[in-house]
Amino acid sequence: MADIEVVTTSERHDLDQEAEAAFRPTWPEFIFHDPVTDAYIKRVELYFPYYDIMLLEDGKVVAGGWGVPLQWDGQVSGLPDGGYDGALASAVTGQENAIPADTLCIMAAAVRADRQGAGLAGKALAALRERATSTGLLHVIAPVRPALKSRYPLTPMDNFARWMRTDGLHIDPWIRTHQRLSASILASAPRSMVIKGTVADWEEWTGMAFPESGPYLVPDALDLVDIDREQNRGTYEETNLWMQHL
Ligand SMILES: CC(C)(COP(=O)(O)OP(=O)(O)OC[C@H]1O[C@@H](n2cnc3c(N)ncnc32)[C@H](O)[C@@H]1OP(=O)(O)O)[C@@H](O)C(=O)NCCC(=O)NCCS
Repeated sequence: MADIEVVTTSERHDLDQEAEAAFRPTWPEFIFHDPVTDAYIKRVELYFPYYDIMLLEDGKVVAGGWGVPLQWDGQVSGLPDGGYDGALASAVTGQENAIPADTLCIMAAAVRADRQGAGLAGKALAALRERATSTGLLHVIAPVRPALKSRYPLTPMDNFARWMRTDGLHIDPWIRTHQRLSASILASAPRSMVIKGTVADWEEWTGMAFPESGPYLVPDALDLVDIDREQNRGTYEETNLWMQHL
């Protein structure tokens, strides 16, 4: 049985390069061009380092996850508008305006490609949950990015959210990992991440050509990418799925 250690990312800058090599390939390039993340991520690192963790297996980086603390009233109607982007903004502005946080919003988790399917993501989620409760946060929520949704970009998230197997668990493996930790589905998170670029940007990010204006299916995108050649703009509005752990 391998030895798993949970570390705070900011305390192990010696592992930065190893972590980048482990996690960067698990994401599509366009994800790294969200302007809201760009605007807030430095302050997230400064304000909330305790909720940014890595799992080391025999000293090697195998999984990671991070979240942000924010105030939430426990109601679906009170979830941050704009999902992932909204949660980032709410956490940072909440901190700057001394609004007390009561909820950890888990923003992302990733597992090194050769260690996926071994339950490590669940361990990362559990470690974040533990940090939330040990610091007095009452709730844990997440704008989940279902792994399988990119195969169904034409299906609205509200429909996809209902696609359960006969055992009552979801057909999506990443939603299942949350469910096994007793998380439940709350609601769709429309416009969770909005990414805009020129047509050339989108061609570079995706390795595809977009010769005409219109909607396109893009690998690893959960929704269609809208290309407008006249305005020289590509727009992607990703819908995520709010889930609640605590
Ligand atoms: C999504 C992710 C975090 C899951 O991590 P994990 O440690 O592999 O998760 P688990 O071991 O709990 O596996 C969950 C399920 O996914 C399945 N699975 C894991 N990796 C898989 C893969 N590469 N392909 C297909 N299924 C996979 C497992 O078999 C398991 O299915 P089961 O419910 O039938 O047992 C990981 O695949 C990943 O890093 N993906 C890229 C980043 C990402 O999309 N993160 C999520 C959005 S924040």
